[in-house]
Amino acid sequence: MKNKKVMLTGVRPSGNLTLGNYLGAIKNFVEKQNDFKSYIFIADLHALTSYVEPKKLKESIRNSIAMYLSCGVDFEKTTIFKQSDVLEHGFLGFIMTFQTKMGELQRMTQFKYKSQNVGKFGVDTGLFVYPTLMVSDILLYDTAIVPVGKDQQQHVELTRDLAERFNKKYGDVFNMPDVFIAPIGNKILNLQNPEEKMNKSDNGDNKGTIFLLDDIEVAKKKIMSAKTDSLNQVKFDEENQPGISNLMSILSKITGESFESIENRFKNKGYGDFKKEVAEAVGDLLKDIQEKYKKYNNENFLKNILQKGAQKARRVANKKIKEVSKVLGLN
Ligand code: TRP
Repeated sequence: MKNKKVMLTGVRPSGNLTLGNYLGAIKNFVEKQNDFKSYIFIADLHALTSYVEPKKLKESIRNSIAMYLSCGVDFEKTTIFKQSDVLEHGFLGFIMTFQTKMGELQRMTQFKYKSQNVGKFGVDTGLFVYPTLMVSDILLYDTAIVPVGKDQQQHVELTRDLAERFNKKYGDVFNMPDVFIAPIGNKILNLQNPEEKMNKSDNGDNKGTIFLLDDIEVAKKKIMSAKTDSLNQVKFDEENQPGISNLMSILSKITGESFESIENRFKNKGYGDFKKEVAEAVGDLLKDIQEKYKKYNNENFLKNILQKGAQKARRVANKKIKEVSKVLGLN
């Protein structure tokens, strides 16, 4: 029990999660939460890199905690908290900027991407130093593994670089984290455009994206009208059949059935039967999540969980900050 390794991940506040979020990230976390000392936090400071109406932000934070619980994050096993409740994140974030070269931050693809269309006043420094805050989120808890999407891999690599740099200068303070990216089906693709990730902001009509809070029938319809390929064979082949492969990933991730077994079962059947089965599986999953969501989305209940989570997180984070302050000569 005592020497379990630490798994930690941060999530941007949004109650409006997609099937892609669930199958690509949350489910992996849930399945691993027994094997690690686990932390999940709402990255509400990170959310401030773009303007969000305060009332909306508050609501998103609440909805996202309810959502993570509904997806199976167990507050008895996992410390759930919100980043802004643990002031140590900001403190270490500030310290870590002193270890970071501007060039390192300029190289971040997320930064390059997100800083493209800014107004005449240029890019916010918050967006620029965003990764150093993430570095600190990770290093505060002696994290061993960080389950994230591929788009965040570079930030975890930066974390390793900065941890190493700091340790070389000041002594062995930080643990070296590894990124964990789920091997298959990790990327659930847009149902209408299987060249792209399933994304919240998919071109407006949202036919390609299933939201966990979608009406069940609407979600099923989205599966039934998903773009498929012309080979007319239920066969996993991401290159030549991205549409069907994506639906296979979805089914396999939900039920645990292997691709081989799915292929065998649908050998002499058409896409219609296959899609129907995927739609049923997705429908059942959403139904389960939505029932829990109704139960959990209760202000006092959630407040209580966050308070307890923050207390636990603070204890650990504060210990690390003391260590950091000491080696820096700030104590
Ligand atoms: N940057 C992550 C994202 O946009 C969220 C995040 C913040 C995070 N801090 C983290 C993820 C620490 C893992 C570990 O998705």
